[in-house]
Amino acid sequence: MTIDELVAAARVARGNAYAPYSNFLVGAAVLAQGQVFTGANVENASYPIGVCAERVAVGAAVTAGKRSISAVALVGSSKEPTPPCGGCRQFIFEFGPDVVVVAETDDGRRKEWRIAELLPDAFGPSFLE
Ligand code: THU
Repeated sequence: MTIDELVAAARVARGNAYAPYSNFLVGAAVLAQGQVFTGANVENASYPIGVCAERVAVGAAVTAGKRSISAVALVGSSKEPTPPCGGCRQFIFEFGPDVVVVAETDDGRRKEWRIAELLPDAFGPSFLE
């Protein structure tokens, strides 16, 4: 599985986003133990309970028994590569500081980070040991 393929999976998932309120469609794909799990944002008439694409995708991986996450790809709807929101940064950080996050625009421009760069001095599982 290449990063190109992971980004392509996120782009496909974006096609199923349910975002009638914001019209901001997001797709995510998680690479976990060699397998790909996808998610899309799912909004709700009760606005605050909508969920981000990343959390749906990470949840799918965990539900399948995968806890070792190596990368998360994201395809949003803005001109610039869409980085994960603050809550999703925390959600991803749970699975380690080295998870690679890649965001791509429609015209193929990419940004890439380690989750620890996006969430410096993060609160994580080690604080609860
Ligand atoms: N959204 C995501 O799915 N992921 C992000 O990291 C950024 C925001 C969604 C939430 C909401 O459905 C829409 O994009 C607009 O904020």
